[in-house]
Amino acid sequence: MASISIPSENRQIDNVDEIRQFLEPYGIWFENWQVEGRIDKEANSEEILSAYKKEIDKLKERGGYVTADVIQVSPETPGLEAMLAKFSKEHTHSEDEVRFIISGGGIFYINGKSETAGDKVFAIQVEEGDLINVPKRTRHWFDLCQDRRVKAIRLFIDPAGWTPDYVDDNIDDNYEPLCWGPRYI
Ligand SMILES: [Fe+2]
Repeated sequence: MASISIPSENRQIDNVDEIRQFLEPYGIWFENWQVEGRIDKEANSEEILSAYKKEIDKLKERGGYVTADVIQVSPETPGLEAMLAKFSKEHTHSEDEVRFIISGGGIFYINGKSETAGDKVFAIQVEEGDLINVPKRTRHWFDLCQDRRVKAIRLFIDPAGWTPDYVDDNIDDNYEPLCWGPRYI
């Protein structure tokens, strides 16, 4: 289950409705979908995409996404750290970053800009069942949790739009992307 940390306010949010409410002024969608019982632990990409077809179709309609795939990485994935290093520095994309976490987890740091809620840097820890959309042009960075594994559905308008445009203000240097909660102690 997701959790939000707002370091500047020394605040943490763990309730689904409050998480959704907090993210709304930043244009970030958040949902939690059932995973256990819906797919087998060993399900392949095709089986995963077919199990969530209804939800994926709804998201495609809402955000104009045209393709979906499944990404799976673990400490055994060749070049994992180099791959992660591309996304652990503050960046934006020319399209939304939409992820539904099947297993494993990670942290999105958002350098959020909002006229109503104020500008602030916050972290969203995502885990099994969490769906998140980081809107295009939102400043953010990402890292996996300490166990370095994730299986997730991704949605794209054009996969080429997912290349990072880096923001060079070094804000990410001030934060240590470590997952929190009992699983990670
Ligand atoms: Fe990104």
